This record gives sequence, C-alpha cells and structure tokens, in this order.
Amino acid sequence: MNFEQVDRVRPLVWQDKHLSVLDQRELPHRQIHLVCRTSSEVAEAIHVLAVRGAPAIGIAGAFGVVLAAHAVQADTGAQALQRINAELTALEHARPTAVNLHWAIQRMREKLVDMGADWRDGILRAAQAIQSEDLAANHRMGSFGAECLPDGARVLTHCNTGSLATAGFGTALGVIRAGVASGRITKIYASETRPWLQGSRLTIWELLQDGIPATLIVDSASAYLMQQGLIDTVIVGADRICANGDVANKIGTYAHALAAKAHGVKVMVVAPSSTIDMATATGLGIAIEQRPGTELTHIGGAEIGARAAAVYNPVFDITPAVCIDFLVTEKGVIAAPDAAKMAAVFGSPAGR
Ligand code: MRU
Repeated sequence: MNFEQVDRVRPLVWQDKHLSVLDQRELPHRQIHLVCRTSSEVAEAIHVLAVRGAPAIGIAGAFGVVLAAHAVQADTGAQALQRINAELTALEHARPTAVNLHWAIQRMREKLVDMGADWRDGILRAAQAIQSEDLAANHRMGSFGAECLPDGARVLTHCNTGSLATAGFGTALGVIRAGVASGRITKIYASETRPWLQGSRLTIWELLQDGIPATLIVDSASAYLMQQGLIDTVIVGADRICANGDVANKIGTYAHALAAKAHGVKVMVVAPSSTIDMATATGLGIAIEQRPGTELTHIGGAEIGARAAAVYNPVFDITPAVCIDFLVTEKGVIAAPDAAKMAAVFGSPAGR
C-alpha cells in the first residue's frame, strides 16, 4: 500500500529545540501549532487535550523528557536523570488512564540512565525511535486487522484513533485506512463521541484530508444501525489493555461492544504493545479519568442545557475481554483474548 497517499496528518513534529503540537482543541476549524519548549508545557498540552490519543501522548511525553533533560547540565545520562526525575513524575501524571504515557517515560528513564557523555543526542534519538516504531506498528496492524474483515465490510469506529492520535496512520483508523485501500471496506460509520467530539471533529476531518468518505452518527444510534444489519465490525482503539484482555477506551466503547454482542457484530480492538499493561490484572484496576462537567454542559463556551444539579463525566470505560473478537497488535492477532493468550504473547508481568 502507498501509505503516504492515505495518511497526510501529523500531530507532533520535533523541530530542533522544541516540540510542535497540532492543537486538537481547535480542529476542525483552525490548524494551530503550539510550541512546547519545556516538559511542563508538554504536560499542559497533554492535560488540556491539545495532544490526545494514547500513543500520541506517549510520544509527546518522550519528547517532554528530551526537553527536561536538555535543560540541565550533566556529565552522564544518569546524572541528568537524577536532576529531572521529579519533573518526569509530574509529566507522567498529566493524564491517568492511557498507559502509553507511563510506558514511554519509563522507557526514556531506562535509556537515559545507561547513557554516557553523548547522552544529549542519545536521548533525542530515543524519543524519535518511540515515534518511528509507533508508525511502523500502525502499518503492520493495519494489514493484520484488514485481513480479519469480511469482504465489503461496513464498519463503525468510535473516538479518534487515527494519525492525530498516534505517530501517524492510526490504530483502529489505520485498519480502516488499510481496509479502504485494499477495497475490503465499503462503508465507514464514525460516532460523534460525546462530549469532546473526537469522532465528529477529528475523525471526520482527518479522513477528509485523505479523501476517505465517512458517515457521522450520534453515539446512541449504533445499536439501531446494528439492528438494521448495517454494521459488520466495530473497530476501536485502546488506552490500556490488562493482563486478562479487558480494554479501557473512550467512554461509549462498552455500549457499542454490548450492542455488537447482541446483534452478532464483531468487535475488533487495535493497539500497539505500548498500550498493553500486564501489571494490571483486570479492568477493575484501571484509573478512569474524570474531566470537568463543562465538557458536557458547554460547547464552544456556550451553555447548551438547563443547569444540572451535578455532572458526572468519566471519559473512559472498560470493555470486558469477553466482548472482544479480535485484539490486533503489531505482534499479530489474538482471537477472543483471555489471560492465557495474553501471557503467551506478552509474557507474565514479572517477565516483561
Ligand atoms: O481522551 P482521548 O481523546 O485521549 O481518548 C482517546 C481514546 O480513547 C482512543 O480511542 C485511544 O487513546 C486510542 S488512540 C489510537
């Protein structure tokens, strides 16, 4: 497949001494690039969702480590790490649910501690490697996932899992790109993804950039479309996948999966192994991020409903492994994931 033709958007670009972030709060109306020159600016960009999507926040976090390290004087990587460790812990806590942020910062720490006098170049190369490995993983997952789809597949995706949420190409949206390019997918539905509208603002925009037509639905229409026989496979990404195969992903994923089970529709989860958390046994152990109620009550600064007594805004949910037909990673496809199959591919927590 000619990847460039179906993948034009890049959310994160390292530019010599700073990280340029395509501000996803402003899309689709304005393309504004934030300049992050410190790790706390990167943490803020992650916290406010200027950059979002599990792999993308991992990559941003890795460049945040570079910015923190380059700001200190040190003779070795270990010395630099000692000086920035508290800063890295703050960066790691910018958002709680996606394990990729913790994974990337931990990997950067482990690289830095082993580096000698050439650590300045080395730590930049380590961040760039995380970014390029993610893009390569997405290309592999695209091919693996597309092969699991029926001919003429009609698919539903939720949230934004595309180039905007990764180094490029995307996870679930990468499978959709690959399926469109190979002619296997004939129809794409994208759910709007209340309240932050990752589906209507980001997925639809991103696919438009690549000339891929998609049909927007409200989140709650998915069960009806399945009842009408209009969807074959639900394809979603993940923020964290536990040792037993339970999946944390954008709020509403579980509802789509339950509807799919009721209608004999397949559910595919697509994520790189940086999203696998073998140290967390089940979905019960995952911290679900709560965000401000204003995300529900306001759009573009305007209040859209009567003033509620209270607002509850959990932004992720847990889809139990039993609801998942295919788990696609860059290592291959696990059908009907469970603890034994996960351990066979990803090892036991102690062995990782
Ligand atoms: O709150 P967000 O927009 O960061 O949530 C993103 C998701 O839930 C995605 O589905 C997930 O991170 C996978 S992105 C490849």
